[in-house]
Amino acid sequence: MKQASRDRGTVIWFTGLSGSGKTTIAHIVEEKLLDAGVPVEILDGDVVRENLSKGLGFSEEDRNTNIRRIAFVAHLLQRNGTFVITAAISPYRAIRDEARSMIKDFVEVFADAPLEVCEERDVKGLYAKARAGEIKGFTGIDDPYEAPENAEVVLKTGEHSPEESAQQVIDKLIEMKFIEA
Ligand code: ADX
Repeated sequence: MKQASRDRGTVIWFTGLSGSGKTTIAHIVEEKLLDAGVPVEILDGDVVRENLSKGLGFSEEDRNTNIRRIAFVAHLLQRNGTFVITAAISPYRAIRDEARSMIKDFVEVFADAPLEVCEERDVKGLYAKARAGEIKGFTGIDDPYEAPENAEVVLKTGEHSPEESAQQVIDKLIEMKFIEA
């Protein structure tokens, strides 16, 4: 007996500052894909850091190790026909490009909210701590964020609702023929 071979899944790679809406939009995209019968997994930065990347910090080296692990697992799942949504800051362009070159069918989604918007929201209260010097090396405050130059999707999450942004991602997946309308 042999399992029928399935097509490759697509990796939807979110990148953006903390509080830019990655996780919220990722979950709406997930719902939409599941409703359409598409198998999907989310690899969320905060969740990955509690298990797969437990113990890693936020130095450039540790962030890159975190991203390589996420890319590795995304690639495994994708090979088996699962769509994967990653939602980590992934602040360094070179490592995102490394993920892109390893993973075929890669859709980079830039959650492009201005720092002021993310900081104003401060969902986890971490920007306040970073400004107070209680957290060092916080992305966007005293640690770099390298915005993508050629992302397939740019979401102006400060201007649009999460639902609208999620639909923008779905529309791009249809346009790129990763899913059918
Ligand atoms: S990444 O840089 O390695 O891609 P990741 O997305 O996994 O980051 O984790 C970011 C989350 O960790 C943030 O949303 C925030 O909750 C938390 N965090 C804690 N310290 C930092 C820091 N110094 N910089 C950014 N995020 C931090």
